[in-house]
Amino acid sequence: MSNFKIKSVEEYNAAYQLSVEQPEAFWDHIASHYSWRKKWGKTLEWNFQEPNVKWFIDGKLNITENCLDRHIEQRGNKIALIWEPNDAKEKAVRYTYREVLKEVNKMANILRKLGVQKGDRVCIYLPMIPELTFSVLACARIGAIHSVVFAGFSANAVADRINDSGCKFVITSDGLNRGPKQIPVKAVVDEALVHCTTVEKILVVDRLGWPVNMEVGRDFWYHEELKNVNDQCEAVEMDSEDPLFILYTSGSTGKPKGVVHSCGGYMVYAGYSFSNVFQYNESDVYWCTADIGWITGHSYIVYGPLLMGATTLMFEGVPSYPDAGRFWQVIDKHSVNIFYTAPTAIRSLMAAGVDHVLAYSLHSLKALGSVGEPINEEAWHWYHTHVGKSKCPVVDTWWQTETGGIMISALAGISELKPAHAGLPLPGIQPILVDGDGKEITGNNVEGYLCIKFPWPSMIRTTYGDHERCRINYFATYPNLYFTGDGARRESNGMFRIIGRVDDVINVSGHRFGTAEIENAINQNKKVIESAVVGYPHDIKGQGIYAYVILNDYEENNNNQTRDEIIESVVEYIGRIAKPDKIQFVTGLPKTRSGKIMRRILRKVAEGEINSLGDTSTLLDPLVVEEIVTNRLTTSD
Ligand code: WTA
Repeated sequence: MSNFKIKSVEEYNAAYQLSVEQPEAFWDHIASHYSWRKKWGKTLEWNFQEPNVKWFIDGKLNITENCLDRHIEQRGNKIALIWEPNDAKEKAVRYTYREVLKEVNKMANILRKLGVQKGDRVCIYLPMIPELTFSVLACARIGAIHSVVFAGFSANAVADRINDSGCKFVITSDGLNRGPKQIPVKAVVDEALVHCTTVEKILVVDRLGWPVNMEVGRDFWYHEELKNVNDQCEAVEMDSEDPLFILYTSGSTGKPKGVVHSCGGYMVYAGYSFSNVFQYNESDVYWCTADIGWITGHSYIVYGPLLMGATTLMFEGVPSYPDAGRFWQVIDKHSVNIFYTAPTAIRSLMAAGVDHVLAYSLHSLKALGSVGEPINEEAWHWYHTHVGKSKCPVVDTWWQTETGGIMISALAGISELKPAHAGLPLPGIQPILVDGDGKEITGNNVEGYLCIKFPWPSMIRTTYGDHERCRINYFATYPNLYFTGDGARRESNGMFRIIGRVDDVINVSGHRFGTAEIENAINQNKKVIESAVVGYPHDIKGQGIYAYVILNDYEENNNNQTRDEIIESVVEYIGRIAKPDKIQFVTGLPKTRSGKIMRRILRKVAEGEINSLGDTSTLLDPLVVEEIVTNRLTTSD
């Protein structure tokens, strides 16, 4: 099935060359490894002006037949999904491919029975339990468009996402486990729905055995509904370009956007990239620690691994519970061969001390991966030495919600590795660097804005309900290029090193937030007149959130109680994950004469670089900078 797996540097070079010289022929070949109800006609149609990108035109398929049905004959009894609970003492659960297919069919039948149809949007707000995977696939099976919302988002954030895409149905749970804590989930949905008019029904999974408010005619228990359905469900035939899912992500402006991915192209690239980057072999156990609420979980816990017939592990808990050895304990327990996590997790486990790692053998590991933010060299070496015992390749995978799959990365065990470098692009991916005018910067040892100049199958198709927003955000900055929002260096050997975001997006523990989004949340507080948020380097999180806030009554409100209230506003409007780390009260913000906030100055102050603030003479009120510098908060604050 996966003879598109590259096995050597020579094969990589040949594949890459073919993918650039004859992209259609290249992708035709890759796509032919999947099962299509009807083969596509034309392979690709595109322009980046509108943008309008279509792959595998008129091809018909259902991604779940590729993830499940087609494996039944050869791997029906192979473990597809291992679920490791939050509590190490609770039993892990294993599902074979045959069993996952049955669970997905049952869930799909429940959704159908409760009125969900092809094209309907379904919000999935669930913790990391097997039912989350079943829900995602059940939607795909019947052609409903899933919109998974990370279960750490607040009611307000859930409501925004439901309203933006007009979800008709919600799948949720009574509550969730997070380390030692149990947290309500259904109650958050109830609160969100006060502000939503489109939702007709809610399906509730019983995770904690909690009594929850159930509205008759609207709310249904999953375990009750299971009694009334069978485990057969014919998959709905989808067009290659039909939307598969929406996933909200933050950009530099306004509220989060619903990134839309298509059925055919996303499938082809998710499987291809998974197989090649991780060099998955038939008997490997693979574990990605992301949450399915983010793109990494979509592509590399659910779709990519299942498309390739892999055994994928799903973990309900957190790295620090019951102690900082949990990841390593789980690796030994399930003999994990391939492990994919985020730099922020590595740094926090590093800080907890190497003894937690040394307590486990980790001998099953063959390859390690990193994703979500630049990995610093120290963390890379710690990961490589202590977790990988200096024998496992560490692949640093660069990609985005919008790209659907890994774009720049080493292939485990094949490509040359360089710490903190993502490396070379995957076949089919054509990254370039441009200067501020959009002119291509050629050669090596250069730095610029990272763009992609040719379409790839799993690229964003639109932003839900607002195509113009997609054009402006990604395709208008530089004509005929997809702009990533990242800056990068190309080193002497053509390897890419990602520097980080060049727009107003902060990457906190691998989670993206727009500064404007956090400012909006802060400004909800009545005591706040205006705020400006910037990122600053943070030892564990990669970037921390630094907020400068103007209060309506400085003397009265300049205190920690106001700080707590501001944090509460952010928790209420976005969620705990976006809490500011530092809040500095100021009497003014550095603004140009036209009223634009000079974030560059605020960023420098937050970074502690107060001797390189640059020219401040053009500011409306240069004195505010002095005050901001004097009262700045440092690492110890
Ligand atoms: C950053 C996560 C450096 C980058 C898959 C990108 C990275 C944003 C890496 C996308 C990496 C992701 N090295 N930076 N290996 N991977 N990023 O949409 O800034 O949550 O633009 O997708 O994370 O974040 P997103």
